[in-house]
Amino acid sequence: MIEQSKVAIIGAGNVGSTVAYSLAVQGVCHEIVLLDRDKERAKGKALDMSQAAAAIRSHTVVKSADSYEDIRDSRVVVITAGSPRKPGMSRDDLLMINAEITKEVATEVKKVAPDAILVMVSNPLDAMTYVALKTAGFSTKQVVGMAGILDSARMAHFIHEKLGFGAGQIRASVIGGHGDDMVPLPRYSTVAGIPLTDLLSEKDIDDVVERTRHGGAEIVGYLKTGSAFYAPGKSTAIMVEAILKDTKQIYPCAVYLDGEYGYRDIVNGVPVMLGKEGVEKIIEVTLNEKEKEMFAKSIDSVARLIETLKKNNFFEDTK
Ligand code: LAC
Repeated sequence: MIEQSKVAIIGAGNVGSTVAYSLAVQGVCHEIVLLDRDKERAKGKALDMSQAAAAIRSHTVVKSADSYEDIRDSRVVVITAGSPRKPGMSRDDLLMINAEITKEVATEVKKVAPDAILVMVSNPLDAMTYVALKTAGFSTKQVVGMAGILDSARMAHFIHEKLGFGAGQIRASVIGGHGDDMVPLPRYSTVAGIPLTDLLSEKDIDDVVERTRHGGAEIVGYLKTGSAFYAPGKSTAIMVEAILKDTKQIYPCAVYLDGEYGYRDIVNGVPVMLGKEGVEKIIEVTLNEKEKEMFAKSIDSVARLIETLKKNNFFEDTK
């Protein structure tokens, strides 16, 4: 029987830990289980977080797993396992190594938590979401990738930098894949309900769009030994909470498209209604010609990654 309030996090690195910590102090679930190849690391972090939860008198308990058995019947499983980006690496450089890890992890998860909703975080995000779907036998509703919330948050931050006001009131919208071809949508971005296009010049909006596209790399450049984790972690926790609480709220997420937006058998970021079933609805936003072109380019980037995997016979032994 599924444990309604148990969340498993695979990979206790920076992103996985930030997701866990965020959920623990929010008190949105009873139990969080951290699973990492480095069991001691998972143990240490779980203790530390559980004690933080005790300090704030949250009912959430954080545990570490010895094996997949310990994540049995989780309601939500967050997959962050994989190699992170190093300076000079694109997300796509991680393709082969993370595809193997994702396949293995998703397959193991399916054995112990077949009804869980999987939230994918490993990069290259859209391709890894596709890999988890195609290799482990989950339904398309059960697998959803993070990144649209992160990319939209980054865009909102850059809009605030340009404007100098409106923090907390900015609704930025980014669809498309989590890569350099993501599709920021200034037309669907607002500040306190005011269209962005009424507040910023075309040149400033172009700057915001460009900086958003490279928002991840900008942070990798500063950190040098890895990639961002606070905003990616928080964005993931938002999705987990929406699923656990069955909020039916709409967030941009990476999902399998089966005809939506005119594409099939591909994963890309679009607005999605999240609830207890996972991907409960895919919303089709009206795009103008330029936006459609950008979306097509983003689809193409993900399709090329999947092609590379196919050429390397990656899917051969899977259904
Ligand atoms: C980023 C990496 C994690 O965007 O994809 O920060």
